Amino acid sequence: MNAKRFLTAAAVMVAGLLAGTAQAEQYRLGLITPPQHQWSKSAVTVAERVKAETNGRVEILTFPSGQLGNEAQMLQQLQTGALDFAFMTLGEFANRDPNYGVFLAPYIVDDAAGARKILKGGVAGKLLDGVNKFALKGFGWGMAGMRQIVMRGPVASVDDLSGKKVRTVPFAQELDFWTRIGAAPTPMPLPALYDAFANGQVDGMQIDFEGTWNSKYYEHAGAIIASNHMMFPMIAVGSGRKWQTIPAADQAVIERVMAEELDSIVGAYGDIDASYLEKLKTTDVPVVTADRTFFGGAIDQWYLSWREKTPLLKDLEAEAEGL
Ligand code: BEZ
Repeated sequence: MNAKRFLTAAAVMVAGLLAGTAQAEQYRLGLITPPQHQWSKSAVTVAERVKAETNGRVEILTFPSGQLGNEAQMLQQLQTGALDFAFMTLGEFANRDPNYGVFLAPYIVDDAAGARKILKGGVAGKLLDGVNKFALKGFGWGMAGMRQIVMRGPVASVDDLSGKKVRTVPFAQELDFWTRIGAAPTPMPLPALYDAFANGQVDGMQIDFEGTWNSKYYEHAGAIIASNHMMFPMIAVGSGRKWQTIPAADQAVIERVMAEELDSIVGAYGDIDASYLEKLKTTDVPVVTADRTFFGGAIDQWYLSWREKTPLLKDLEAEAEGL
């Protein structure tokens, strides 16, 4: 910058400071869900509201569909301050501290309403505060729909899942669940799933009704198993390093808007699950209902093992019993 331009820029900055106005700021929010997914729609709403409430000064650019990389890469970017905010599954967190996988306890809740209560509980609060140890700022919990199963072939009993390659998120808890059932869990990021299912790289998947409809996984399915077998939280986080540099007034707006939008995501999933299930019932793919007994003794064994490995599971079970 030459001397004249430097002086002009400095004068504008000083004038702004004297007028009591803060600088315009642009931040980035990354997530892996496609644009039509509720998380992506809510990220856009967060951005619009923050912009409106700061008179257009603070802009949050949203990057859905893993445009900034997968969750492992986004987590690294958050830690260095290269990315500002993200809506994430708990996969990367559970890889670092298995307690972050406790919410995947099979049938810990019956439905999205139960999941909503659990995400307001003490275990959720403790885990949210705990993201500081990953150099992150935690804003709160969101969630996706309850987990269901979509398979290429027909399914009448759990035996029909035996030996099948089932796409999962790479949580140890989830892999263990599928292994105990006798399937071959195949971790795979969401953006890669449609092609993998279409070309037979996987025989099925653990997913929600929303994704099954919006991403058209049903087009290649022979059975949809409405099992509601796990809840699936989302955590909204920011870069701890970047957060410290954001003016307090802007932090307050971002925190409030995030909290309100997260709450509305969590509140919306009862209806989202119900409405996408109805849409899926209009397809030719049979929808089979399954409950805990469908999975035989595998779930009891799962609990015996994970109570030992993740002490927070017992606390979560106590909370769930009190719902
Ligand atoms: C999944 O990987 O299955 C997933 C990720 C985010 C939202 C919903 C589903």
